[in-house]
Amino acid sequence: MSWAGKFIGSSIGQKIIMSLSGLFLIIFLLIHLIGNLQLLKSDGGIAFNSYGYFMTHNPLIKIVSYTLYITILIHAIQGTKLFFRNRSAKGTGYAVATNTGQHWASRYMMHFGAIIFVFILIHLYQFWLQMKMGTLEMVTVAGMDHPIADLYKPCYEVFGNIGFVLFYVISMAILAFHLAHGFSSAFQSLGINHKKYTPLIKFIGLIYSILIPIGFALIPIWMFLNR
Ligand code: HEM
Repeated sequence: MSWAGKFIGSSIGQKIIMSLSGLFLIIFLLIHLIGNLQLLKSDGGIAFNSYGYFMTHNPLIKIVSYTLYITILIHAIQGTKLFFRNRSAKGTGYAVATNTGQHWASRYMMHFGAIIFVFILIHLYQFWLQMKMGTLEMVTVAGMDHPIADLYKPCYEVFGNIGFVLFYVISMAILAFHLAHGFSSAFQSLGINHKKYTPLIKFIGLIYSILIPIGFALIPIWMFLNR
């Protein structure tokens, strides 16, 4: 087997793949949230649709998007593999985490991750698929010389349903727990373990894992209440 094959198959290699893919997803979430905050503007979707148009027509962003889909799959597959590998190597995953005195959220990383994966599939079905299939309505926007896809409409419709609002809010709570452990653990797996910087990384991770899910959860709540 090649050096790369051996590395990817090794426990440490798998952990590094988890960390790097996780960090990429952490950056994506921040950018995705900033873009989606356009939904909070009371302008009938003009800002959000213009943002959506930019995101779907920029060649560089298209490449990043494909990297993102692959990264989500790698992170999910590798996480599942690691979970079962640890479980079969040391009895049950629960026992291992309890004995090492880790935060309780770390014990359920696989479970939270699986729920988030299902959330992403439902989420992509609700918004992204319509965009990719070209079935969205077209709207005219001031400053554009041609109509653009109305991505705001499916968001407005989905978040008019209390069931979906609750689904998003609960999913964001689960995302918060997944990030709370995942953020600092990603740095640790990369070998970044420093007396001075590790507490800072943990602090930033905590703030990130609270603010990002709250930001996402606010959008459906706001859109449900403001109609
Ligand atoms: C209220 C919260 C959210 C809203 C309103 C929202 C909205 C959208 C919309 C409209 C799209 C299609 C347009 C685009 O690609 O930007 C999209 C794509 C996507 N969303 Fe979200 N999103 C939310 C939260 C999330 C969360 C929490 C995740 C991950 C855990 C996520 C993952 C994705 C992914 C992976 C895509 C595909 C991106 C791409 O094609 O480049 N979204 N979202």
